[in-house]
Amino acid sequence: MTFLDLQGADFQANPYGVLAELREEHWQVPCAFGIAVLRYDEVRGMLALRQLRTPGADFLALQGITEGPLADTMRGFLLNADGQAHHRVRRLVSKAFTVAWVEAFRPAVARMAEELLDELDGQDECDFVASFAEPLALRVLCRFVGIPDDVSHEVKQWTADIGLLFGLSVAEHRARIESALDNLHGYIDELLTQRRAAPRDDLLTALIAAEEDGELLTDAELRSMVITLMSAGQGTVQHQLSNGMAAFMAHPEQWRLLRTQPRLAVTAAEEIVRHSPSSILGVPRIAKEDLSFAGLDIPAGAAIMPITGSANRDPRAYGDSASALDIERTGTPHLTYGGGIHYCLGAALARVELQEAFPLLAQRWPSPQPAGPGTWLPPTEAVYGPLTLPVKRGS
Ligand code: HEM
Repeated sequence: MTFLDLQGADFQANPYGVLAELREEHWQVPCAFGIAVLRYDEVRGMLALRQLRTPGADFLALQGITEGPLADTMRGFLLNADGQAHHRVRRLVSKAFTVAWVEAFRPAVARMAEELLDELDGQDECDFVASFAEPLALRVLCRFVGIPDDVSHEVKQWTADIGLLFGLSVAEHRARIESALDNLHGYIDELLTQRRAAPRDDLLTALIAAEEDGELLTDAELRSMVITLMSAGQGTVQHQLSNGMAAFMAHPEQWRLLRTQPRLAVTAAEEIVRHSPSSILGVPRIAKEDLSFAGLDIPAGAAIMPITGSANRDPRAYGDSASALDIERTGTPHLTYGGGIHYCLGAALARVELQEAFPLLAQRWPSPQPAGPGTWLPPTEAVYGPLTLPVKRGS
């Protein structure tokens, strides 16, 4: 059977083209990670399967790290929890992180986007990532969670260092990761003490107060949750904003449509996330037990890669226009925010950020164009997008 060569030059240069070709041959093909699932129905079905789990601390174990603070930290993340342990924390966190809470924050998101655009007034060209996408994602997240602006860059750096835990050179970075964990845990503990003494209108205060049947989140769970939010909610949004901008520059008629019809903000935000997601590969899984799915026998321990970036462009789900950017598209929901029990906890906040940012950008920048090629991460990165995106604002 054909093989999906994720490191091959073809995939690196044209990931969607390679996925489209393989998707027509079969719903799944082998890849270096295990079974790559390519079609919409099967990807969606896989994400809902209770017999699969996230890889958790497996990659750490492969690197010989099975106990100690690094393994404990990894096991403590919500994304790595399963069954009852996941359900308990997710239920409590969802009491604080509600859609109503996010909606109340919407005007603040719009203000932050506007402030950044004001700062760019008078400049014909900018790097969209450094001057808009990165600062907007970071500011919004810090204000929402309750991290003061003056420490946001330090917190971002510590979170990035802790993120090295998800890579394959953990032993090499052990000292850096441990020092970031010490610093961030110490800082979060300080914030928890402050909020307990003087509650504020932020997520941290709401997380401390979240309670059901007399149960609260423990301090260890609160620490782990803040780290998770800071890592899950920053790069994803930053890259999604930048990928959206790049897609709009390639489809100027869609930009003009949004400019003249800002009411399309909601469908535009979904379409950008479907068409140009901040992760092409999607969400890896491990089989907890032997199972059979769509006629395929999968043994316990097998690794599976439901490729959401492929499902999102499957003509079986989106018709002949699956590869086109169409901000008026409605119907089949995309899978970029995942599915099943780990469905993105921050999707409502991400949606608000995209729904506020793009119509505002379209109002302020009439016809943005690329001012150079920019530099892009490889499409195999868990979170994918440009590191620099030079843009001429247009007049
Ligand atoms: C465009 C932006 C975003 C995208 C594309 C995205 C995507 C995802 C995906 C695919 C998952 C599931 C991973 C899996 O099943 O393996 C996930 C989980 C998660 N996301 Fe997001 N995310 C985004 C923004 C955010 C934001 C803004 C936050 C928080 C402020 C956030 C917090 C989380 C958390 C906590 C989880 C783990 C949920 C669980 O395990 O139950 N995400 N996200």
